[in-house]
Amino acid sequence: MRDKLVVGNWKMNGGLKQNDALLGTLRAEWNAPAGRRLAVCVPSPYLFQAQAALSGSAIAWGAQNVSDRDAGAFTGEISAAMVAEFGCRYAIVGHSERRTLHGESDATVAAKASAALKAGLTPIVCVGETLEEREAGSTESVVTRQLGAVSAALGSKLAAIVLAYEPVWAIGTGRTATPQQAQDVHRLLRSRLAAADATATDVLVLYGGSVKADNAKALFRCPDIDGGLIGGASLKADEFLAIARA
Ligand code: PGA
Repeated sequence: MRDKLVVGNWKMNGGLKQNDALLGTLRAEWNAPAGRRLAVCVPSPYLFQAQAALSGSAIAWGAQNVSDRDAGAFTGEISAAMVAEFGCRYAIVGHSERRTLHGESDATVAAKASAALKAGLTPIVCVGETLEEREAGSTESVVTRQLGAVSAALGSKLAAIVLAYEPVWAIGTGRTATPQQAQDVHRLLRSRLAAADATATDVLVLYGGSVKADNAKALFRCPDIDGGLIGGASLKADEFLAIARA
């Protein structure tokens, strides 16, 4: 049995005061049931705050992006080693907002996943198709291509990632993939993982895209869905905790 992992992706939201309240409530109320794991990926300026608030608790924290480079003249970039210094366990890489709004290619995402691993972080690698791609029947080829770039770069280290399937048309839209639609892609991804590396069969594959307390249970019940990557609903402690317990 694989654990269920629920990860909050705050995106570019938060502030010192509201973070304190949110992190404090999560810490006070998360009782870490067996087989359940919880984490929050916060904007990088708040990693120190997340570390202070969550150290010694059962809740992990992480960054939402890292550079593919180690160090040097890359103004505005943040390296994996830097975020690792704040006790992060995770770094999201290849979120669709970065692929589309910041022009990140499959190769860049793969290099970021490598950089995260090198710094001792677990990359949460996001893949997913746009609405156009789904309607054109290319969901399978898109997610296979996206995962393929990462598995080619990581080789036998593929087993150390977490994978997140996030159909772009479901992110922040209130339009969730049905459990069956999500399960179909998750099953495909799991078979691709196993084909790429025999040790990658137990990689956690999270679903993301408008997960809420009222649809989480049906999604998480699917055999190949190992939890969720939660955007909007991770900003409210009660809703996020309800998803984590679903
Ligand atoms: P959402 O975002 O839950 O707000 O749809 C998910 C994500 O982008 O990770």
